[in-house]
Amino acid sequence: MVKVAVVTGSNKGIGFAIVKGLLKRFDGVVYLTSRDVARGQDAVAKLNELGLHPQYHQLDVTDRDSVAKFRDHIEKKYGGIDILVNNAAVANIEDRTYEASKTVVDINYFSILTIQELLFPLVRNNGRILNISSDCGHLSNIRNEYWIQRLSKKDLTVEDVNEFANWFLDGVKNGTFDYGDIADGGTIASYRVAKVALSAITRVQQKELEAKNISVNSMHPGLVQTDMTRGVGFYDIDQAADTPIYLVLEAPDTLKGAYIWYDKQVLDWFDYKADYYFKIRTMIK
Ligand SMILES: NC(=O)c1ccc[n+]([C@@H]2O[C@H](COP(=O)([O-])OP(=O)(O)OC[C@H]3O[C@@H](n4cnc5c(N)ncnc54)[C@H](OP(=O)(O)O)[C@@H]3O)[C@@H](O)[C@H]2O)c1
Repeated sequence: MVKVAVVTGSNKGIGFAIVKGLLKRFDGVVYLTSRDVARGQDAVAKLNELGLHPQYHQLDVTDRDSVAKFRDHIEKKYGGIDILVNNAAVANIEDRTYEASKTVVDINYFSILTIQELLFPLVRNNGRILNISSDCGHLSNIRNEYWIQRLSKKDLTVEDVNEFANWFLDGVKNGTFDYGDIADGGTIASYRVAKVALSAITRVQQKELEAKNISVNSMHPGLVQTDMTRGVGFYDIDQAADTPIYLVLEAPDTLKGAYIWYDKQVLDWFDYKADYYFKIRTMIK
């Protein structure tokens, strides 16, 4: 049986470096996927120049048909997935319109529900799923007491997390959202809400996949020099790929449903008073 690794949004940035690292270290085939075919093929060509040969498939995580086509392709060609890195994301630095907020929450959070529905059933026993979150995904980014308590529930459900995301989006739509409910003066609120939702749903997903001994974790890759940060960061993409690759290849298989920092430290996601939230001032060159 051929082992299969898949990285979403991997035509550039950290996802691209994760593909590159896996091609060097993973004993199986590695899928570079992208929403735009031309950008994906350019990325494949770059790896080919290094003597590395990923498989390629189009995959737009917000397009159900695209995810279904990818699922059918993998099912037919390899029968399953061993490693799935959910990396695709966008950040919209300061656009507080409803449309911009919805785009960020759709790509960074709601898409994971489509992936969960269509791709998780393909993940084989003992497989590993990694949701690339952010320091924006730590619970300390939320300052609303009700949601801190509700997202901390032991028996958290997908409905809880969806209602959290929709609480934000409805508030933005109606012009009633209090940005004081988000840390750091509500900067990049939509991205924080989406990433907190992603790290929260990771716990629900872990419970669902426990019987197959699949691990589902979320992590913060550090502040990394990519297009998303307009080149600001203390890591380059290859350095940033180190911890994600460790988590899907080497971490103990008892590490489950956890939130992991870029230095491989497992953090207490529930510690809402901690100082792990993102500070916009770190973006200033
Ligand atoms: N860089 C940082 O400092 C930092 C910090 C914390 C967390 N992160 C997280 O790390 C991950 C990688 O970020 P990055 O910095 O490498 O960002 P990036 O360079 O902007 O790359 C993001 C990737 O996601 C893809 N993408 C966006 N929407 C998509 C969709 N609907 N379907 C499929 N792919 C889509 C992009 O494709 P296109 O080229 O088509 O746009 C691109 O390949 C993200 O989850 C991000 O939130 C990054």
